[in-house]
Amino acid sequence: MKSVLVIVVLLVGITLFSCHSNSSSESNNNAASGSSASGPSAASAGASAAIDVNAPSNSEGVGRFSHVQVGNTIDPKMAEEGQEVFQTKCTVCHQATDQKLIGPGLKGITKIRTPAWIMNMITNPDTMTHHDPVAEALFNQFNQTQMTNQGLSDQEAREVLEFLRQNDAK
Ligand code: HEC
Repeated sequence: MKSVLVIVVLLVGITLFSCHSNSSSESNNNAASGSSASGPSAASAGASAAIDVNAPSNSEGVGRFSHVQVGNTIDPKMAEEGQEVFQTKCTVCHQATDQKLIGPGLKGITKIRTPAWIMNMITNPDTMTHHDPVAEALFNQFNQTQMTNQGLSDQEAREVLEFLRQNDAK
């Protein structure tokens, strides 16, 4: 039943999006950014398929970050700063392993999400769970427990991303 609902909501959202409409009903609908269904990735979900949150996605999400460039190598200093932020502000809900806590385990996250998506999720979680199809699917999977906005600066969000990259390089 739940997955049927998700599909219906998605279809409505995509229809609205493709009509370039429609502020009156926007608040009730998933204003799909469209980016998750576009792009060349063979793994991205088709428009009508239920979203597999473990599948790689090209989406950049919704928020103040886009086209975040990361180096080929990890910056260890930045990753260390990020680990500190992670330990203070994230470990109440997340582990850096693949084990769930209140939220998903974050091991492997940088392999399936774009840097911008991760930074938008960290800094803009409420909008993400309502307007990004992948974040919304996660939100439903986690019994609609909303990730809280931990008030990270742009710099801190970038450092946490570096920590997660390092965590995935191990
Ligand atoms: C109150 C608990 C809570 C806190 C604190 C929290 N999160 Fe989350 N997080 C969640 C939940 C729950 C989800 C799943 C989406 C949802 O339901 O909002 C999530 C989702 C995520 C995702 C997406 C995971 C995926 O599989 O795509 C990332 C990345 C993330 N959180 C990173 C962080 C970071 C980094 C911090 C610290 C700055 C943090 N979270 C703090 C609960 C939390």
